[in-house]
Amino acid sequence: MPPFLAGRMDETREFQKLLKQDHVLENLVLTGLRGLGKTVLLETFKPIAIQAGWLWAGTDLSESMSVSEENLATRLLTDLAVLTSRIVIGKEEIPRIGLKARPDEIEITLNFSTLRAIYEGTPGLVADKVKTILEVVASHVRVTGHKGIVFAYDEAQTLADHAAKEQYPLSLLLDVFQSVQRKGMPFMLVLTGLPTLFPKLVEARTFAERMFRVLFLDPLSRDESRDAILKPISDGRCPVSFTDVSVDSVWKISAGYPYFIQYVCREVFDVWTQNLEAGSVPAGIPIEEITRKLDSDFFAGRWARATDRQRDLLRIAAQLKTRDSEFTVQEIVEHPANRALSKSFSSSHVNQMLVKLADAGLIYKNRHGKYSFAVPLLGQFILRQYKRDRSQGTFPGWAPEE
Ligand SMILES: Nc1ncnc2c1ncn2[C@@H]1O[C@H](COP(=O)(O)OP(=O)(O)OP(=O)(O)O)[C@@H](O)[C@H]1O
Ligand SMILES: [Mg+2]
Repeated sequence: MPPFLAGRMDETREFQKLLKQDHVLENLVLTGLRGLGKTVLLETFKPIAIQAGWLWAGTDLSESMSVSEENLATRLLTDLAVLTSRIVIGKEEIPRIGLKARPDEIEITLNFSTLRAIYEGTPGLVADKVKTILEVVASHVRVTGHKGIVFAYDEAQTLADHAAKEQYPLSLLLDVFQSVQRKGMPFMLVLTGLPTLFPKLVEARTFAERMFRVLFLDPLSRDESRDAILKPISDGRCPVSFTDVSVDSVWKISAGYPYFIQYVCREVFDVWTQNLEAGSVPAGIPIEEITRKLDSDFFAGRWARATDRQRDLLRIAAQLKTRDSEFTVQEIVEHPANRALSKSFSSSHVNQMLVKLADAGLIYKNRHGKYSFAVPLLGQFILRQYKRDRSQGTFPGWAPEE
């Protein structure tokens, strides 16, 4: 967690509205590029939900959860059991499977093994079994006076169906939640992940479009960035302070991206405290040096994984006016820098390569078929890199549109 979470008021209000639903019809997708603050915002949602009377279940999703329907079911059961293991269920609700002792003498709780036994004892598909579990849990949750359960999963873009193996864990999750919500059960899904997440959900089940409120995290505004920079050091005991000029420099380098704000501030803080310890007065922010370090720490590894041909294409994209929002295959093909290449890209080339670049996590395709850089400020990095490389090679037709 950052020492001060700046902005995100609108998103928090939206989440609070969703918590007020008596009948859960809308779930939440919280999405945004790397380092935008999805994980820390999700963390702050947890106490808000608990305060509003909800129980909170969930963790990070990893690829392994998405391998099979059974894995996903185990994940849900495990998360539920943490919340329900203290709930004592009545005699008549004790599942008969595997319980040899006299039931009336044993206090049976909804712990993992009970849930598992109910699961195993339910006939049908994995989806039927999970629905039964949720039905059982729903009736007990109401008795405890809670409003319902929020299932919060981070890194949810890792969810996927695997048609070749006939395993559909992503569709299972959507089917199950849609079904139990229709029956009025108080379970809400909150999924966070990269911008590929929502298109993935809709591709798996078109009804996902109506099932989720999508909040797309933007970079912080100038004022919010200022708060993120200054509030953590507002304590009188802090040895350093930032002038307006310094705050402006951080803003310029970071463009309001929380991860970059934090990165730059940490670097500055380290340099300045070292200066102070050495008895000298801190100078301004070493913008050039910090940018260079950021380039090598954050961008260079990703850039190194691209092939020469992919870099040609990324360089063209970085020169588009629309590079910081979204661009089309057409715009790349028609750019003078493409025409000037000895082997210029055709539309089908660009299409194929963008798919590869999306797999490599450098580009993503949104639901309207347009593309964006999947890494914040990648376009600017590519331009800087070009300027540094200029002495070593030539890139024909280099003509940034600004
Ligand atoms: N609103 C904010 N104010 C101040 N700092 C923030 C804010 N949001 C995020 N940060 C800081 O930025 C960094 C990135 O945040 P976080 O890890 O939540 O991003 P993320 O979107 O989950 O990234 P990833 O996609 O890589 O998982 C963290 O170190 C966090 O402390
Ligand atoms: Mg995260």
